[in-house]
Amino acid sequence: MTTLITNIKELLQVRENSTLKVAGAEMAVLPTIKNAFLLLEDDLIADFGEMKNLSKIKADKVIDATGKIILPSWCDSHTHIVYAGNREQEFVDRINGMTYEEIANRGGGILNSAKKLNETSEKEIYNQSKVRLEEVMRLGTGAVEIKSGYGLTVEGELKILRVIQQLAQNYPITIKATFLGAHAFPSAFKDNKRGYLDCIINEMLPEIAQNKLADFIDVFCETGYFSVENTEEIMQAGIRFGLKPKIHVNQFNSIGGIQAGVKYNALSVDHLEIMKPEDIEVLKNTETMPVALPSCSYFLSIPYTPAREMITAGLPIALATDYNPGSTPSGNMNFVVATACIKMKMTPEEAINAATLNGAYAMGISKSHGSITKGKKANLIITKKISSYYQLPYAFGSNLIESVILNGQIYQ
Ligand code: NIG
Ligand code: FE
Repeated sequence: MTTLITNIKELLQVRENSTLKVAGAEMAVLPTIKNAFLLLEDDLIADFGEMKNLSKIKADKVIDATGKIILPSWCDSHTHIVYAGNREQEFVDRINGMTYEEIANRGGGILNSAKKLNETSEKEIYNQSKVRLEEVMRLGTGAVEIKSGYGLTVEGELKILRVIQQLAQNYPITIKATFLGAHAFPSAFKDNKRGYLDCIINEMLPEIAQNKLADFIDVFCETGYFSVENTEEIMQAGIRFGLKPKIHVNQFNSIGGIQAGVKYNALSVDHLEIMKPEDIEVLKNTETMPVALPSCSYFLSIPYTPAREMITAGLPIALATDYNPGSTPSGNMNFVVATACIKMKMTPEEAINAATLNGAYAMGISKSHGSITKGKKANLIITKKISSYYQLPYAFGSNLIESVILNGQIYQ
């Protein structure tokens, strides 16, 4: 099946397949073709170029994109979409003055979500999660990483990872799974942290690896959660089972998590709201992608990742949503891109690079996703008629997406 899209006002993020990420000053460059065509063959991008170079092609389907912009789908490299219920009461408690930390300390937060998840059937968790997945697909996300981490028991963690696997089988979006058993110490192990670390390493990990339920291993490295030492031990164990680390670090405190991530060649280090100069320094010339989550900063009113300092230091940045019930109940990558521009002072070009190609890199899929490149997945956003791509962050509250294409086909 071939689809030819003609008269595209501007085709964004056009790359050679050798470019797997962009860093530093390169992030300001977004290669585009004006008045373009794009040819899809089955689920892949087959060809593209200027309209004037379009030779006579007989396609099964032709879409006229006059006045519209096309870009690769968003690549959301950090989410916790599979959860049960919500935490709207904690949201109101925070409005009334409690902090995220105080709520967690009274048994709320991650432990609240873990309680709900363990009380909910696998089928019901699937049904709740698929609504969120369908929503983000309509919002232009074409590849997404989903973490476990709200089970905190062997059965609970496996349940989440099986739901992720089912979603990946049933939906035309690319999904990568991350095991985040080390999200919080469950109440049952409050006074026996060693016991929970052993449970993760000796019970959860072997089962997950044997059933091929995860691609990556994650740890919430933070004061009051998992120490740098714990984080290193879990990353080591994950690596032994073939899972590359992608870790939560520097959300509230800078305690050496980035250094640990770099030491174990983490694919990404995520959050980075609190950055010391040495945290930026250690990321230079590494393969580790720094990931910023601006809608988490927005929702919790915590600092934003210092993108300008990091880009000036030559680092790459990826942008992701962190969609979860506690710190970011939103999976809207359009809002993330706008917030990165408005609050982190990233330019539209930098933000689009961060939310497409660099996001794909942070999931280990930038050879097949994240840019308009021959042979890459035909996962695309077609905008409404807009004046320029600046509209995407500028009109931050509007839905400018007319349709999305996943695996070469219009989704809904
Ligand atoms: O990435 N920081 C750790 N984990 C999630 C939030 C967890 C929660 O509050 O449920 C995050 O922000
Ligand atoms: Fe997270």
